[in-house]
Amino acid sequence: MTDLVAPHGGGPLLPLMAPEQERAGLLEKAAALPQVEMTSRETSDLILMGMGAYTPLAGFMDEADWRGVCSDMRLADGTFWPIPITLSVDSDVADALKAGTEVALVDGESGEIMGTMIVEESYRPDQNWEAEQVFRTTDTAHPGVAKLFDQKAANIAGPVTVLSEGPYRARYRELCFTPQESRAKFKELGWAKVAAFQTRNPMHRSHEQLVKTAIEMTDGVFIHQVLGKLKEGDIPAEVRVEAIDAMIQNYFIPDTVIQAGLPLEMRYAGPREALLHGVLRQNYGCSHLIVGRDHAGVGSYYGPFDAQAIFDTLWDGALEIQPLKFDITFYCKKCGGMASARTCPHGNEDRVNISGTRQREMLANGEDVPVEFSRPEVVDVLRAFYQSAS
Ligand code: ADX
Repeated sequence: MTDLVAPHGGGPLLPLMAPEQERAGLLEKAAALPQVEMTSRETSDLILMGMGAYTPLAGFMDEADWRGVCSDMRLADGTFWPIPITLSVDSDVADALKAGTEVALVDGESGEIMGTMIVEESYRPDQNWEAEQVFRTTDTAHPGVAKLFDQKAANIAGPVTVLSEGPYRARYRELCFTPQESRAKFKELGWAKVAAFQTRNPMHRSHEQLVKTAIEMTDGVFIHQVLGKLKEGDIPAEVRVEAIDAMIQNYFIPDTVIQAGLPLEMRYAGPREALLHGVLRQNYGCSHLIVGRDHAGVGSYYGPFDAQAIFDTLWDGALEIQPLKFDITFYCKKCGGMASARTCPHGNEDRVNISGTRQREMLANGEDVPVEFSRPEVVDVLRAFYQSAS
């Protein structure tokens, strides 16, 4: 059997979680250290480092890595990396932290100590430049840009030791695989060619079509939904898990897909984020990433296929995972089934255009969701959520 794709960077997986037997002692020591509060985005990045999902990063990025990533998508050592993974503090806090100081990293929402970091460096990032490079816009109506501009003025950098898994593993025990666990699962199923399906939505019929087409070309599909905080209006993770389960139980053959969750907080950075999704899924053992229409986009900041095109700009060996590119998929009344812009000769008037945004609108307005749009079993789960929310 062929091997699974290697982790990003060519070395072994690098989970930065302290061994379980040492965690209690390290947490006790951490309680006496200077405390640095993290935003939910920073906490989720730390949790991903703990799991080894951000291999080969050893901690939050220093200025050379941050600059290289923003400008040419390279860490200082030349390794491909598409989005800065940084930790911000107020300038006076940064100035007071001498190089070599160990700090406790505390989740700003729960107050839990999540890990420790040896501060090696602090710097003042130019947030406007970062936004232009990473998001292609400085518009604060973009949720990822707004979050970036809300960060504090200085970044602190250094290697981390992670001391908590956060709430995800406990809440979604059977879904929240670490990269080591997903790799073991793929091996158990005899999978080597594995496609990842990234989503932040309950699966509608376009999603179903992409995943089913990918099953035709691979050993199986890892349905890897985002569990971290999303923007307002997106459907909460626990509802999505149930909706995706309804889809899998009713419309897929067992052991052709695995439902899983990723504690990532999306930045909605479109093309650059698609590449980060690639890095993450390569670490999870996936050889391919499904990239459809406006992957990881928001509003109209990105062209529908920008997130596909950016993969073609990478240098040889930057990333091993390959995109599986899909055109816009929809239900065509004349074809009598799902089709795509590459396969259907009919006009727009025959097509039911499907999107997560439109589905959320229909549910919020109490409209019927047509069967061409979404499977009834999935709609039942979503409707129950919208009714209880209103
Ligand atoms: S995303 O932010 O996670 O990309 P979403 O959950 O809507 O949002 O999309 C999951 C994947 O399905 C992405 O690769 C996206 O490009 C693709 N996708 C969603 N809807 C369509 C569609 N109608 N046609 C083609 N691809 C689609």
